[in-house]
Amino acid sequence: MKELLVIEGLRKDFGERRLFEIERLVIRQAAAYVLTGLNGTGKSTLLRILAGLESASPDRAAYMGAPLSLRPYPRVLRESVVYVHQHPVLFSTTVAANIAYGLTARGMPSAQAAPRVEQAMAWAGVTHLRDSKPQTLSGGEKQRVALARAKVLEPRLLLLDEPTSSLDGAAREQVIALIPSLVAAGSSVVIACHDRDLISLPQVERLKLRDGRLQARQNRVRAVS
Ligand SMILES: Nc1ncnc2c1ncn2[C@@H]1O[C@H](COP(=O)(O)OP(=O)(O)O)[C@@H](O)[C@H]1O
Ligand SMILES: [Mg+2]
Repeated sequence: MKELLVIEGLRKDFGERRLFEIERLVIRQAAAYVLTGLNGTGKSTLLRILAGLESASPDRAAYMGAPLSLRPYPRVLRESVVYVHQHPVLFSTTVAANIAYGLTARGMPSAQAAPRVEQAMAWAGVTHLRDSKPQTLSGGEKQRVALARAKVLEPRLLLLDEPTSSLDGAAREQVIALIPSLVAAGSSVVIACHDRDLISLPQVERLKLRDGRLQARQNRVRAVS
């Protein structure tokens, strides 16, 4: 599988404190990764760097084989990378309008956006909620709307920050069930989480932040964090 994004020599400091120093991070095309590590090890910070929400100057970075700088955050990544917050903020319009927002903001005419929004709502199982106000939704429904809002943009790289951490039961399972289809659709996915069921999804590779270093390993054996 081809490499989508390669980052080498990535250090992140907050003041005097070095949060992590990552020798090499490789994200391949259409591959899924779980990013584990204790609270405070920098999972969210790493995802935010990849999404351009936090600054960083690695020694080297390359996207689809072409070298690039992360500072300023390049347009090619802005158009290809989507970050989904642990507690997604939805606009107090409707579910459908939230999912359409990114496409409209990119200048897509609404006639062209509409079928994509329909498809994304069906994928996330939220079609019946299309006219609902987000503040009336359950946590699981909100997370699925946030995933639909991200997927509709057809990102090459999707970054999910603890998508199931505030969910349980069926709501959690519904979110987990959506992940493999993102990869099948060609996206690479990095999921920061502690969720055993996400960690042990088939064909998911494991990235672990520990003591400021990133360890990578294939997830053939059921992982215990
Ligand atoms: N903007 C910031 N300024 C200073 N410290 C920060 C900032 N953002 C995160 N941190 C610190 O970096 C550490 C890692 O945070 P985070 O990436 O949220 O970890 P995780 O997601 O693994 O729990 C925490 O100790 C947090 O307080
Ligand atoms: Mg976090």
